Amino acid sequence: MDRLQIEGGHRLDGSVQVAGAKNAALPILAASLLSDRDLVLGNLPAVTDVTAMLELLREFGVRIDGPRQGRLVLHATGIVNTEATWDIVRRMRASFLVLAPLVARFGHARISRPGGCSIGTRPVDLHLEALAALGASVETAGGVIDVTAPRAGGLQGGRINLAFPSVGATHTAMMAATAARGETEIVNCAREPEIVDVATCLARMGARIEGAGTHRIRVEGLTLWQPAEHMILPDRIEAGTYLIAAALTGGQVEVTGGRLEHLGGVCEVLDAAGVTVFPSDRGLIAERHGPLRSVDMTTGPFPAFPTDLQAQFMTLMTQAEGVSTIRETVFENRFMHVPELQRLGANIEHRGSVARVRGRSPLDGASVMATDLRASMCLVLAGLVARGWTTVNRVYHIDRGYEDVEGKLRRCGARIERRTGA
Ligand code: UD1
Repeated sequence: MDRLQIEGGHRLDGSVQVAGAKNAALPILAASLLSDRDLVLGNLPAVTDVTAMLELLREFGVRIDGPRQGRLVLHATGIVNTEATWDIVRRMRASFLVLAPLVARFGHARISRPGGCSIGTRPVDLHLEALAALGASVETAGGVIDVTAPRAGGLQGGRINLAFPSVGATHTAMMAATAARGETEIVNCAREPEIVDVATCLARMGARIEGAGTHRIRVEGLTLWQPAEHMILPDRIEAGTYLIAAALTGGQVEVTGGRLEHLGGVCEVLDAAGVTVFPSDRGLIAERHGPLRSVDMTTGPFPAFPTDLQAQFMTLMTQAEGVSTIRETVFENRFMHVPELQRLGANIEHRGSVARVRGRSPLDGASVMATDLRASMCLVLAGLVARGWTTVNRVYHIDRGYEDVEGKLRRCGARIERRTGA
C-alpha cells in the first residue's frame, strides 16, 4: 500500500495546474449511458475514481476509445447489462449514478444499495424519490434496488421537489428527466458548478435543459440524442486545496485553471483569515498578509463553504492565531481527520458536528492514517508545515480524487515522496 512522506517547513512557490473536476467527470461518464451517439470527453482527471467508472461502463458494454490527444470517445451502443453489483458500488459510491441513465434508456436497472461510508450514512432516498416522481416503481429487497419505468411510454415528466439540495440526487433527476415524456421541474436542486457542467454536457448531447445553477431546473424530455464533445470543468476542490496549501506555507502559488466564481464562500473565509485570492491571467493566486487569523466557518451547499474543503481548512486553522469554530452541516461524521491531526499536535476539540481549533499549534511530524479522500489531503497539508517528516498511510484515498499530488506539490518546492509496498 502506498504512503506519502513529507518533510515539513518548505514554502510552496510556483504554479499548479488544476485537473478536470472528478465530481463532474463521474456523473458525465454515467450520462454517456443515456445516448447511442458518440460522446467525446476532454479534461478527464487521471484519478482512480474515473478509472473505476470507466471499468464499470466497459462492463455494461460501453466501448471506450482513447485517450487520443487528451480525449476519450464513449460509444454506448451495445449495452449488455443493466445491473451494478455490490462489489462495484462498494468500491465507489458514485457508481450509483448509473441508475438513472439505465432506467431512463432501458426502462429497468438493478443496483446494490450503497452502504454508509466513513463520512456518514449517505442515504439514497432522494435519488429514489426523484425516480418515483417520474413514474418509476422502486423496490428494495436483499440490499438490491430494482427500478422499473412504467411499461407504456417509459418515464413521465413531473415535479421533483428535493427535500435537501443533494448534488447526487440532482444529477439523478436531471438524467432521468432527459428521457421522460413531457416537462420535468426539479425544485430545490443543488447549484454546484458541477451541476452546471453536467447540464451543459447533457445539452450538448441534445437535452433541452434550463436553469442549472439556480434552485429550479426545467427539462423537456424525450431527447433526440446527438454526437457531442465536452471538456470537463476544472476541479474547484483541487484548486481550493492548493490555495490553502500556499496560504499555509506562506508562499505564493498560481493555481492554473482555478476560477473565482466556482469558489463561492471560500474566498470570503480565506480573506477573513488574512489570505487574499485574486484572479491571474491563467487562474488564481493566493497571497497571505502576515500571520493567519482564526475564522469561524460553516459548510453548506454551494455557494456556501464546501464540505469537501472542510478538512483542509481545519489544517489551515491549526496555524492561525486564536480559536476557530468549524461547523459541518452536510455530512454527520466528517471529522475523522481530527484524531490524526491531534497526533501531529493540533489542539482541536470536537463534539457532534462542531470542532474548535485552537491555534497556533506547532505540529510535529508523525505517522498518520488517511481515512477518506479529503481527510487524507488535510494530513498532507499538515505535513507541509510539521517539524520533520510526516508519513501519510493509505494514499489510495488521495489517488481517488487528486491527480499526481506529489508531483504537483514537488514542483512548487515541497519535499514529498511516494513509497510503495510495506
Ligand atoms: C457529492 C460529492 C461529494 C460532496 C457532496 C456535497 C460527487 C461524486 N460527490 O456527493 O464529494 O462532498 O456532493 O457537496 O459528486 N442525502 C440524503 N439522501 C439522498 C442523498 C443525499 O439524505 O438521497 C444527504 C446526504 O446524506 C448528505 C447530504 O444529503 O447529508 C449531501 O449529499 P449529496 O449532496 O447528495 O452528496 P453526494 O452527491 O453524495
